Amino acid sequence: MKKGFILWFTGLSGSGKSTLSKLIEERLLERGIPVEILDGDEVRTNLSKGLGFSKEDRDINIRRIGYVANLLARNGVCAITAAISPYHAVRDEVRASVDGRAGFVETYCECSIEKLTARDVKGLYKKALAGEIKNFTGVSDPYEAPLNPECVVHTGDEPAEQSCARILKTLEMLGYIPAVVGDDYGALEEKAVAERLRDLGYLG
Ligand code: ADX
Repeated sequence: MKKGFILWFTGLSGSGKSTLSKLIEERLLERGIPVEILDGDEVRTNLSKGLGFSKEDRDINIRRIGYVANLLARNGVCAITAAISPYHAVRDEVRASVDGRAGFVETYCECSIEKLTARDVKGLYKKALAGEIKNFTGVSDPYEAPLNPECVVHTGDEPAEQSCARILKTLEMLGYIPAVVGDDYGALEEKAVAERLRDLGYLG
């Protein structure tokens, strides 16, 4: 059995976590890798129904997602999580709890608040800025960007396909998925992925 892993997305609301999750899922299924997505909005309608957006509730939500993702990953599944997960401490707690049989790949969906506000797909930023939603991440509640994520994608500045390719290259280099022959990710980009991983202590 191939080693499972958690692909942990973090980023502000609307930063592309769900979109990229679905794209990555498609690509992994094409390669025969079993995948499950734990999407923030979906988890909140079942596993975390009733939880709000205080720090305590968000931390409980993230611990639950981490727990389920871990169960899947240790059985060879790629568990993709797509919740804002705004706090360092609980993300690191989940990372530390990952079973030795699995890996953890933190991926930061970086996008400026200006771009998110302009795009505002769900209309939530407008409401948050008007004070109609309290404790809205990035507007009136903190977001702690990861300091040393395995992968960073700039979803406001690059097409989703490019972000997707960088994530897949990262997973390949970490040995979680097999490399695809003819995969033409640019040499410069590939070097940047390798450098990031080497700086983090991977790749020997
Ligand atoms: S997390 O902080 O616990 O990780 P999660 O990803 O589950 O958050 O939920 C975020 C989604 O809930 C957002 O994409 C948005 O649709 C909705 N939401 C509603 N209220 C808030 C809020 N106060 N802050 C952030 N997102 C909110």
